[in-house]
Amino acid sequence: MYKFLARPLLFRFTSDYAHDLTVNTAKAAGKNKALLQALRTAYKYENPALSQNIWGLQFKNPVGLAAGFDKNGTLATTMESIGFGFIEIGSITAEPSTGNPKPRSFRLPEDQSLINRMGLNNDGASTIARRIKKLQLDIPLGINIAKTHNPSIFGEKALLDYKTSFDLVKDLADYLTINISCPNTKEGKTFEEPDTLDELLQTLNISGDSALPPVLIKFSVDLESSQLKELIGVCENHAVSGYVATNTSSKRLNLKSPVTKINNIGSGGLSGQAISNRSTEVIEQISNLTHHDKTIIGVGGISSGQQAIDKIKVGADLLQIYTGLVYEGPSLVKKINKEIVKYLERKGMDHIYEIQRPKSE
Ligand SMILES: Cc1cc2nc3c(=O)[nH]c(=O)nc-3n(C[C@H](O)[C@H](O)[C@H](O)COP(=O)(O)O)c2cc1C
Repeated sequence: MYKFLARPLLFRFTSDYAHDLTVNTAKAAGKNKALLQALRTAYKYENPALSQNIWGLQFKNPVGLAAGFDKNGTLATTMESIGFGFIEIGSITAEPSTGNPKPRSFRLPEDQSLINRMGLNNDGASTIARRIKKLQLDIPLGINIAKTHNPSIFGEKALLDYKTSFDLVKDLADYLTINISCPNTKEGKTFEEPDTLDELLQTLNISGDSALPPVLIKFSVDLESSQLKELIGVCENHAVSGYVATNTSSKRLNLKSPVTKINNIGSGGLSGQAISNRSTEVIEQISNLTHHDKTIIGVGGISSGQQAIDKIKVGADLLQIYTGLVYEGPSLVKKINKEIVKYLERKGMDHIYEIQRPKSE
């Protein structure tokens, strides 16, 4: 239905306009009880084989909404109704931001990929925190925090900027993701340096505050294995609870789209099929570096059950989608879950846990 009706219509508009239209429609749907019920009826898929208890939280299925789709916490109810197992709101930043000027998102249909340079547009942590307080969800809620998109906020001020958002939402989230890998800010990814990451995790007192929900770190898909090893070392010293792998790519690899088109688009983070395999490699590296002992949310180019399974096999416990949703529509959540269950049946497995290598815990 989405592919034959909604997508051809949406793809007539620019990616930015289609995105705004989708967000506004999903926001309106969230206020309409009858529509929410219709969505639940159409998209609900439950199977005990997919249900997992992680950090004491019940995930009815492993497919979550990736950060960036619901930046302001206005779509969570609608997203729950289309069957997501969990939702990550954000990235939120301490100060509100309108983000980069449009155009700032671009489709690459030949590659089932997107390039975006949204620039962390969001209503700001305090407004979003007030909104989140009113949410009533039956699924786990993650909140993703980034540094305010403003190059004059750096050094000590950048640490405090993260802390401001962190303190505002730490009691409202089931888990928190620290996004250190946004490719779309003028100042670059300064916290993907081991020393600055160490300072950040100290400032947030990750290992010292036992009242915190699980805290995860989100990495770029572009990190080399040596960089990843150093950064994981820092994170493990601070006893983080897990990792989100991965964010988008600043590179332009694995693309079929014409080079002139890519060059005309300019800077931005590449997501979707073009980063799928590399993202799986990063998940595997993180799983090996952490001795398969930490929760990993696998994200990057998932648009089928097989791609989800590939990520689970190498260490992902949970999954997230964004670009797949744009190309495949809301039924993708159900499709992935059903395909995982079919795989379990084919392999004579009883539960999703069995796809992965055993954990030590
Ligand atoms: C338009 C767009 C905006 C995004 N915004 C954010 C963001 O604010 N914070 C974040 O951590 N990731 C953000 N992401 C990255 C996604 O959460 C995800 O890590 C990445 O797109 C790879 O997954 P995918 O291939 O399923 O899209 C964004 C991605 C897209 C396409």
